[in-house]
Amino acid sequence: AEALRVGIAGLGTVGASVVRMLQNKASELTRQCGRQIAPVAVSARDRTRDRGIDLGNAQWFDDPVTLAQSSEIEVFVELIGGEDGVALASVRAALEAGRHVVTANKALLSKHGVQLAAIAEKRGVLLNYEAAVAGGIPVIKTMREALAGNHVNRVFGIMNGTCNYILTRMEADGLSFEDCLKDAQKLGYAEADPTFDIEGHDTAHKLSILTSLAFGCRISADDIYMEGISNITQADIRAASELGYRIKLLGVAQKTESGIEQRVHPTMVPVSSVIAQVHGVTNAVAVETDMLGELLLTGPGAGGDATASAVIGDVADIAKSRPGFQHGPVFGWPARELAPYKRAR
Ligand code: HSE
Repeated sequence: AEALRVGIAGLGTVGASVVRMLQNKASELTRQCGRQIAPVAVSARDRTRDRGIDLGNAQWFDDPVTLAQSSEIEVFVELIGGEDGVALASVRAALEAGRHVVTANKALLSKHGVQLAAIAEKRGVLLNYEAAVAGGIPVIKTMREALAGNHVNRVFGIMNGTCNYILTRMEADGLSFEDCLKDAQKLGYAEADPTFDIEGHDTAHKLSILTSLAFGCRISADDIYMEGISNITQADIRAASELGYRIKLLGVAQKTESGIEQRVHPTMVPVSSVIAQVHGVTNAVAVETDMLGELLLTGPGAGGDATASAVIGDVADIAKSRPGFQHGPVFGWPARELAPYKRAR
């Protein structure tokens, strides 16, 4: 079979890992997919920057929108970030041009996901976004495909690796909030603007996507009560510990009598609970359903290689799909079937 031609826009921590892993894993991926995955084109802001990766013969595009529409590619991988701007313009252009899209961009999906899903479904192309929620944990495929028919009551968990890393090290090593944040940035966990991590926005973006998958409703991040961890001090952590608790930043979405409740805030969890044992950059997502009871998924929630793993899994899905075969709808239900969001009173 012919190689799958992939264009990658954005060569930050995740983009560089994706390029590197596609090279390092080339023969394995070719065997698994029955065809080669070829990164034939790339786009990033600064052409001269040394990213420690070999771009080989990949064609360089200054403008991601031009890359997205190029007939040189079949799959557009968006790793630029940001909820609007070139990320939105290029993803929309790619879908409209009939290219499959893989993205790790939770901010974009949280704001425009349903609209983009409608375009993808109309054009008959895939919009895959496993890397957008909880890094390397396959939570999207689980909720979208494996849990079909389940009635979800609640989805909750630790969805920001940076915050969990900070809280873990503040407790274990007695370090200050600022020092822990600096380390999380050095390790490539934090967003370009770490305010998104520590103030809860990143968790809210991810939660809003899971809410849609869980309850078959439109996405609404504006309806999330949100509080971050920037005010948590050593004194808070010690006080919680003396009472037998740990502080975790949780995102929670549940169905109530009057509608859906979504919230993100630091939460005291009993030290003996499973969620309290989730340390460092690890994330954990719990889903409660009628058929399964509670399902708990844990694993690396941030970092270049862990996130690249999810991106490559999404690209491989496309490489393995055969003409005429399509995955299910982007958010588990056809975009036009998603119910209006009804906020709990
Ligand atoms: N900044 C995010 C985190 C990256 O720390 O979890 C993964 O989305």
